[in-house]
Parts: sequence; C-alpha cells; structure tokens
Amino acid sequence: MVAWNRNADLSAYNSLGFKVTAERFLQVTEVGQLHDALNEVVENKWPLLIIGGGSNLVLHDELPGAVINVATSGINVLADDEDQAIVEVGAGENWHGFVSHLLEMGLHGLENLALIPGSVGAAPVQNIGAYGVELADCFHSLTAYDRETGELVQISAEQCQFSYRNSIFKSSEKGRYIIWRVRFNLSSIFTPNLSYKGLTDYLSDQGVEHPTAHQVYTAVCEVRKQKLPVPSELGNAGSFFENPVVPEAQFQALKASFPDLVAYADKPGHFKLAAGWMIDKAGWKGYRDGAVGVYEKQALVLVHFGAGSATELLALADRIKASVSEKFNVSLEMEPRIYPHR
Ligand code: EPU
Repeated sequence: MVAWNRNADLSAYNSLGFKVTAERFLQVTEVGQLHDALNEVVENKWPLLIIGGGSNLVLHDELPGAVINVATSGINVLADDEDQAIVEVGAGENWHGFVSHLLEMGLHGLENLALIPGSVGAAPVQNIGAYGVELADCFHSLTAYDRETGELVQISAEQCQFSYRNSIFKSSEKGRYIIWRVRFNLSSIFTPNLSYKGLTDYLSDQGVEHPTAHQVYTAVCEVRKQKLPVPSELGNAGSFFENPVVPEAQFQALKASFPDLVAYADKPGHFKLAAGWMIDKAGWKGYRDGAVGVYEKQALVLVHFGAGSATELLALADRIKASVSEKFNVSLEMEPRIYPHR
C-alpha cells in the first residue's frame, strides 16, 4: 500500500503561490516507492503529475489523481581527473543550493545559472539557461526511471537532444522518464562566460575586469534580483513566454517597422526576438488586473499578488499574446507547463 497524502496543499510546490490541492501527493526517495506508486497510478488510471520545485508550472486549483515529488538528494564527485570532475546530484536537490555548493567545492561551469528557482531534476527538462550559459553546456548524463520498462536507465547528453528551452523530456519522450539523478561535467579551472552584456556592465560598474568565479556568481545573483521577482515575495514562474525564433526576412521586416527591436542572431537564417521587449512595447509592463499582473521591472514575467488563480493568470496571458500578435504579428509560446491542461 502506498501512503498517499490525501487532499494535500501544494501552495509550497508552485512558485506562483496559487492555492492548489492535490487529490493524492507523495514524496519519493527510493526507487521501490516510486515503482509501487506508479503501479497504483496505472491500475487506477489516475492522471499523474511529476513535480520538482514547481517553479515552471501553472497549476489549477484542484489536481485530480496523483502528484509525485522526487526528493532524491546528495551531491557526489564521481570522477576527478586533473582539472575535470563529474559530479552527480539528486533530482530533488534545490538548483541554487547545488550551484552554491559547487562554488564552495571550487568546481566551475554553472555560476551563470545561480539563483534559478526550482529543483535539479526539473533543470534538464527545459534546458534552463541564463546570462549566456545553458544547462546543456555542462551536462554529462542522467539517470531516469523509465515508465515503459519500470527500470532506471542512463541517458546521455546527446540522447537528451537539448535545444533552447527544450529536450526530449518536454517533446518526443514527454511523460516517459522520471529524472532521478543528474551528472555534470565541471572544471576546477574557472573560465568566465561574460557574453551577456548586463553581466559585464554590472562587473565593470564594480571596477572588475577579470572576475573570479565568486564575483561572477555574485554578479549573476545581483543582476537577477534587479530584474526578476523572488517567488517567496511575489509569486511568479520566471519568464512566462519563450523568446520566439523567426526567419531572417520576418526579423528584417519587423526591424524596418520597429528600429529599436531587440533581437539576437540564432540558428542560421534565424533571429531570436526579445519577447519581453515586445510585451513592454505593447504597453503591458506593470499592468495589474486584480490578483495577477505583469512585473513592473521585466515584462516577460507574469506575477501573482495573492488570492488569485491559474484561470485569471492564463486569461491575462491570452490577452498579452493577442496584443503582441496584433502589434508585431508574432505568436508567443508560453514557457511554463499548465496542469491539468484544459
Ligand atoms: N526588455 C525590455 N522590456 C522588458 C523586458 C526586456 O525592453 O520589460 C528588453 C531588455 O532591455 C533586453 C531584452 O529585452 O534588451 C532581453 O531582456 P533580458 O536580458 O532581461 O532577457 P529575456 O530575453 O527577457 C532571457 C531568459 C531568462 C534569463 C535572461 C538572462 C527566456 C524566455 N528568458 O530573458 O530566463 O534569465 O534571458 O539570460 O529565454 C526564465 O526562463 O524563466 C528566465 C528568467
């Protein structure tokens, strides 16, 4: 028998801070527990949500069926060869805690991803990225529970098919794997990635030209705090929309109409447009409608002020999408996952 927690309050498991109740909730640390719980889920045909830190999720008030949180922990160095190390970490560890721990261990590569909310296990799903670095840059492999075979399997970086905010866990193999442990390739030699202008501007304001790992880590935390709300203070799920990638001709046409359009060269013949800039230009920054709104310092982030619901937030997101489509003829895709999907 699985000891489900009935009618569980998941307010602490969604960074938007909605009042959400799960019909059944279970935290697992052992594969046997997961196996038994999944058997019950299948036998009863319950809908299932696997949840990490809940920082990229929009949850409706009532979650039917079962919700499982993977709470595997531990950070271990598996191999240490000259200046390279492979570090394995439990999917349930907090991402920022892990990045901070690596800094203390003198292992480098993930500094630019400091302060991203959520769990380690959720990070590969959308290939988290910020300030010029993405998870894929340091990813080695992961161990996942394969729901098709009921066994733990090893999945390589290549098999994950990482791309901008995407992987097989979100696309071709959605729902099949439950991420259990993740391994990273890290280096004891620090090579800063200073490709993001906001980061170099911050460091040069501090008079720092050749930053240490600690200085980059601190700068990332400070730059994030200036632009992004802390979920414990103001409910949010980070960027609410992806930055759309469009063909060069479409970019050129838009640039002709909007000369200050912010965009970056992407894959050959394509440009990535700053969705935050477009939403801002369409007049939404700082907009509030009751319990939900658009963050006053970063238009790409939708916020929940309290006592609101997913329905209200998604209605606002739809209005923003329609307005950006009308003004720029660009279709925005939501970044967080919506559950249950209606
Ligand atoms: N901009 C505006 N107005 C706004 C927001 C942005 O004009 O209200 C402009 C900025 O001035 C800048 C450009 O748009 O020129 C891009 O803004 P920013 O550098 O803040 O980055 P972003 O494209 O909005 C992406 C990621 C963030 C990540 C930052 C930094 C996505 C969807 N978002 O945001 O990731 O932290 O770059 O690397 O790719 C997340 O995914 O949850 C997230 C926070």
